[in-house]
Amino acid sequence: MTDTPFSMDDLVSLCKRRGFIYPASEIYGGLNGFWDYGPLGTELKNNLRDAWWHDMVRCPPTGPDGEPVSIVGLDSSIIQNPRAWEASGHVGGFNDPMVDCRETKSRYRADHLLCLDAGAGEGGQRYAFVENDEESLAAARKKLEKYVKRTLEDAEVQIRPFTSLSAEEMAGTVGPGVKTPGTLTEPRQFNLMFKTFVGALQDEDSAAYLRPETAQGIFLNFNNVVDTMRVKVPFGIAQVGKAFRNEVTPRNFIFRSREFEQMEIEWFCHGDDAEQWFEFWCDVRRRWWEELGLTSDNVLMRKHDADELAHYAKEGCGTFDVEYRFPFTAPGFGELEGVAHRGDYDLRRHQEFSGKKLQYFDQPRNERYLPHVIEPSAGLSRGTLAMLCEAYTPDPERASKVYMAFNPRLAPIKAAIFPLVNKDGMPEVAKKLHEDLRRRWPVQYDAKQSIGKRYARMDEAGCPWCITIDSDTLTDQTVTIRHRDSLEQERISIGAVEGWLAERLGGTA
Ligand code: GAP
Repeated sequence: MTDTPFSMDDLVSLCKRRGFIYPASEIYGGLNGFWDYGPLGTELKNNLRDAWWHDMVRCPPTGPDGEPVSIVGLDSSIIQNPRAWEASGHVGGFNDPMVDCRETKSRYRADHLLCLDAGAGEGGQRYAFVENDEESLAAARKKLEKYVKRTLEDAEVQIRPFTSLSAEEMAGTVGPGVKTPGTLTEPRQFNLMFKTFVGALQDEDSAAYLRPETAQGIFLNFNNVVDTMRVKVPFGIAQVGKAFRNEVTPRNFIFRSREFEQMEIEWFCHGDDAEQWFEFWCDVRRRWWEELGLTSDNVLMRKHDADELAHYAKEGCGTFDVEYRFPFTAPGFGELEGVAHRGDYDLRRHQEFSGKKLQYFDQPRNERYLPHVIEPSAGLSRGTLAMLCEAYTPDPERASKVYMAFNPRLAPIKAAIFPLVNKDGMPEVAKKLHEDLRRRWPVQYDAKQSIGKRYARMDEAGCPWCITIDSDTLTDQTVTIRHRDSLEQERISIGAVEGWLAERLGGTA
C-alpha cells in the first residue's frame, strides 16, 4: 500500500469503474454481503488462486529435511451429509453472539457493539455504537452530551464493550439509530450456516447446510486420499473453493461477505511433530504473501488470545493469524489467513460420528494413530482485497491520477498492444503481435482514443507494460515498451518482445 492515504470509497469506485468488482444483483438494489467479480477481478482472483495452487500443490515449499513437502489437491462438494457439521462442531458451536434492536430491527454482532458512558451507573443511560464506524460513534457522543447537557472532555467518556454490561446496564443502553433505552436485546447465539433442503420434501430430515469452510470436505476424504494416492504422513491436502456464512454484519467491501472463497491446506502429521510443523507453516505462509507483493510493514503474525480460539483449536497451542493493514483497519491490522493447530479434533470427531476408522498406520514408526492437523486457511476473496489495497497508488501527475501496481504475476492484463495511430499499416502490425502474444498470456489490443487515454486505462487496470507500434516500427521493426510504475520507456526489436515478456513472466499466466 502506498504511503499516500486513500479511502475505501476510492478503491471501491475504481473496482466498479474498471470492472474488478460489482455489487451482486445491482439492478435489483443489490444483496448485502454478496459481490460479483467483473472481467478484471476474475482474472486477478484466478491469478492469486493459481499462484497459491502452483506454490503449495504443484511446487510445494521445501520442508525441514531439504525435500519438497508432499501436498495433493481436492475439490469436494459444497453440500455434505449434515452429520458432518454436527461432528465438526459447526451445528452446535459455529455461533456469533448477536444483539437485535427491537425498534430498528438491526442486528449487531455483540462483540462489535461498544458503549459510550459518562459514569452514569446502573440507573443511568449509555449509548451504543458500532466498532470502527465513525458516524455511529459521533452520533452516540452527540446523544450522550445531550443527555448530560454539556460538552464532555475525552477523559470523561468511557468506552465499554456491550458484552461487559450487566443486565440492568444493557436495559439502560440506547442503541444506534434510536432515542430511547431498552430496545437492544441481550446477546443471543445465532448460527452462521446457511440452511437448505435436499430433494423434494422440505422438512428437518432433508435439511442440509452450505459449507462454512472448505476444510471439512478434506477430513471426510482423508481415508480416500490415503488409500488411493500412496501418500505418507506427514502430507497435506489442499482445496480452493466457495464457503458461505450468514455473517451478521457483512462489511468493508469483500473483507467480510456472506459468500467467499478460501484456500485451505490440512497438513496431517504425527502429534509429536505438530509444534514443529506449526512453526514451519506460520513462516511459509507469511513469506508467501510477502513474496506476492504485500509489503512487510503491512503484514504481521498475531497470536490469538485465549478467548478468540475456535472450537477446534488445540488447547495450549492455538492459532496465529497472518494479518494485513487494510485501509479500514489502519493503523491496525485485519485477518488475512489463520494458521491453526487443530490437534486430532476433526478426525477424532468424524471417526466418532461416522463409526468409520480414520486412523493411519505409520510403517516406519510401527504405530497406528490419528494424525494431528496444522491448518493454514487463507481467504482468496480477502487476499484479492489485500492485493487491490496494496496495488492502489495515487499519483496526481498521471492522467489517471491513480495506478494499480500489481505484481506482474497477478496482473489481470500482462501487456497492452497499441498502434500509435489507427492507420498507415500500424494496426496490422499491432494486431499480429497481439495474436502472437495472446497464445501465452492475457494481453489486450487497444486502438481507441489518444495514446494518453490508453495509458490511463491500462494504469488503472494495473497492466505492467504497454507496447506501442509507431512509424519507426515500420522501418526498423522496433517497438516502445512503457513501464507502468517507473514510466520509463525502452525500445526493443518486435521479434524480441515475446522473449522479453517470458523473461519477466515465466511461461505461465
Ligand atoms: N477452516 C478454518 C477457517 O475457516 P476462519 O478463520 O474462519 O478459519 C479462514 O477462515 C479465512 O477465511 C479467514 O482468514 C479469511 O481470510 C476468510 N474468511 C472467513 N470469513 C470470511 C468472510 N465472511 N468473508 C470473507 N473472507 C472470510
